[in-house]
Amino acid sequence: MIPFNVPPFLGTEPDLIMQAVKNQKICGDGPFTKQCHQWLEEKTGSPKALLTTSCTHALEMAALLLHIQPGDEVILPSFTFCSTADAFVLRGAKLVFVDIRPDTMNIDETKIEDAITDKTKAIVPVHYAGVACEMDTITEIARRHNLAVVEDAAQAVMSEYKGQALGAIGDYGCYSFHETKNYSMGEGGALLIKDPEKIEEAEILREKGTNRSVFLRGQIDKYTWVDHGSSYLPSDMNAAYLWAQLQEAEKINNDRLASWNKYYVAFAELEEKGYVQRPIIPDECKHNAHMFYLKAKDLEERTALLSFLKENDILAVFHYIPLHSAPAGKRFGRFHGTDEVTTRESDRLLRLPMYYGLSDEDINKVIDTVIRFYHK
Ligand SMILES: Cc1ncc(COP(=O)(O)O)c(C=O)c1O
Repeated sequence: MIPFNVPPFLGTEPDLIMQAVKNQKICGDGPFTKQCHQWLEEKTGSPKALLTTSCTHALEMAALLLHIQPGDEVILPSFTFCSTADAFVLRGAKLVFVDIRPDTMNIDETKIEDAITDKTKAIVPVHYAGVACEMDTITEIARRHNLAVVEDAAQAVMSEYKGQALGAIGDYGCYSFHETKNYSMGEGGALLIKDPEKIEEAEILREKGTNRSVFLRGQIDKYTWVDHGSSYLPSDMNAAYLWAQLQEAEKINNDRLASWNKYYVAFAELEEKGYVQRPIIPDECKHNAHMFYLKAKDLEERTALLSFLKENDILAVFHYIPLHSAPAGKRFGRFHGTDEVTTRESDRLLRLPMYYGLSDEDINKVIDTVIRFYHK
């Protein structure tokens, strides 16, 4: 069976984890966490990066730092993972879903402004498949209406928009280092913070409401409980696993891009013949090959293709059930305008195996099997 995902593993991770154990520093904010923070800040140009226990938690931190209150509204796409919504629902916010663009599957920036009310507090663009949303337009709308922008960049580490790192464009950026992502620590994530004045509040929130971060920098000799907070920092053992991968980020990225390009070239003919559509990457976007998807004609054809791949020992998957059609989405949100694209396009989308180290032999088998399906 060709798996859909294999968690990234270089082989250097166990040694670094053992080093964390030997350091006798396995709690949060140890030396490996610091190295990850520094790498993320240098790579993205963000003034502050904080590792978190997940992207879900990074999103929760963003909602807390924005002081989202019951009744506030946030604008987001419905075609996303539930965590994008959960973080704001936990604070009592109302979700306002807007349609997506058919080319990138990202929020349709031309539909955002109409969904803004006097209760709107934030826009949450999701960079689907590591391909950027139209950030110039989104940040401009946010500026004019005095709204925050929280980038759900869970899938977008190493991706760019007009030369800027995704996650570092909005007020907050949220990364995921879950095992399904390009770089991993098992479960984990990071929060990027744009406004230097919010850094200390974020550190306190992440450290149970204490000023332990100030203490760890040697600026005070005792730390204490100063505000509300939770525990959003991962163990340094997990950070060690991630650090092994961040040091080799280009190698992982290039490997994934090579697989992505092989798929892309191989399916050109099927697209020309009108059988499938391949992903579209706008010129201003540099993507990270987080996923390779094809769009079949419709739901029925996608279901048949998924079964055919499975019969041939290939695991392909689909996602997401649009949030506005899920029970919680109905309870906590509303769809602004009409769903012209979200359901139709998500019904057609099928993700092919994509991971670091995917072999040529396996890629060729996937390609041949998809082509056989259309020529059978
Ligand atoms: C778009 C999006 N947002 C948020 C998340 C949540 O990430 P995590 O599992 O790190 O909490 C995911 C994970 O799949 C995601 O794809």
